[in-house]
Amino acid sequence: MATKRRILVQLDNDAHPSVFDRVVAIDAGVEELFSYGNIEPDAVEALVHGAIFTRGPADLKNTAIFVGGKNVTRAEEIFVAVQRAYLGAFRTSVMLDPNGANTTAAAAVLTASHHLDLARTKALVLGGTGPVGQRVALLLARQKAAVWVSSRSKDRAQDVCNAITEKVPDAKVFSTAESHTEGNSNHPEHFNLVVSAAAAGVRTISRAQLTGGEMLKVVMDLNAVPPLGIEGVQITDNGREENGIKYFGAIGVGGLKMKIHKASVASLFHSNDQTLDAEQIFDIGQRLEVA
Ligand SMILES: NC(=O)c1ccc[n+]([C@@H]2O[C@H](COP(=O)([O-])OP(=O)(O)OC[C@H]3O[C@@H](n4cnc5c(N)ncnc54)[C@H](OP(=O)(O)O)[C@@H]3O)[C@@H](O)[C@H]2O)c1
Repeated sequence: MATKRRILVQLDNDAHPSVFDRVVAIDAGVEELFSYGNIEPDAVEALVHGAIFTRGPADLKNTAIFVGGKNVTRAEEIFVAVQRAYLGAFRTSVMLDPNGANTTAAAAVLTASHHLDLARTKALVLGGTGPVGQRVALLLARQKAAVWVSSRSKDRAQDVCNAITEKVPDAKVFSTAESHTEGNSNHPEHFNLVVSAAAAGVRTISRAQLTGGEMLKVVMDLNAVPPLGIEGVQITDNGREENGIKYFGAIGVGGLKMKIHKASVASLFHSNDQTLDAEQIFDIGQRLEVA
């Protein structure tokens, strides 16, 4: 019998399913892409049942689901609804990457791991309450780094720390509410790694705040919209060294992000039982580098 074509069902909460995610899907070897926009969690069950009851369990590794969209909270609800709609062996593999949050965080932490022993690293994550920052903090904690989650609100930062500790019980995570704004930032010189994951166009750290420390080795800014989060970081920085510090910008990290995104989509078709969230996507990135 002929091999079944690889079908990816894209469930996106935006009106127009992401073109970016669609292009990556095709480049990852998807042969048929079924894209649905404006998806709400209560629409998911019927769509998933359409995907799982048409091919027998042995062929379901050739069908997979990708959950995306700019509304990350809604996408997380859709991701849960997809898993609830599965019925035993009648399931597909599924990947969550709303607004690129999982693949970006995985690329950022893998990049940092090339230059630091994360288990001995003290890290500061600015904008640590956003979808990307939360995942960066989680992945760093999972690699045994000590992580300070920074927010304008200590309560919000603490909520993120609590959520990380639920997933990684021995996580070394701390909340901090010092302002991200210039002149009153957390003090970067007390950290080995600073990752700025604050909202696009928000300045978190001035150039003056990055000088003078012996500890600081890696500075990463994931914001691609001027002004960049960390003054002095260039969007294309990919390990540029200045005064003993290595700098990485959003596009510098973007190359690895693209590779991880593509490899994760491709891996969905290896079996029908994978559930790819931040941790699993990070692990795929790690294996990609070893191979
Ligand atoms: N390179 C890539 O491929 C890629 C992919 C996705 C995202 N990104 C970038 O990664 C960054 C993080 O994305 P995200 O979606 O997680 O961001 P986000 O949700 O828009 O913002 C992250 C955090 O920034 C803080 N923030 C918002 N406005 C602020 C302000 N005016 N001053 C100080 N802090 C402020 C908020 O924390 P508090 O309210 O708790 O302080 C918020 O939780 C963005 O710059 C985004 O553009 C890059």
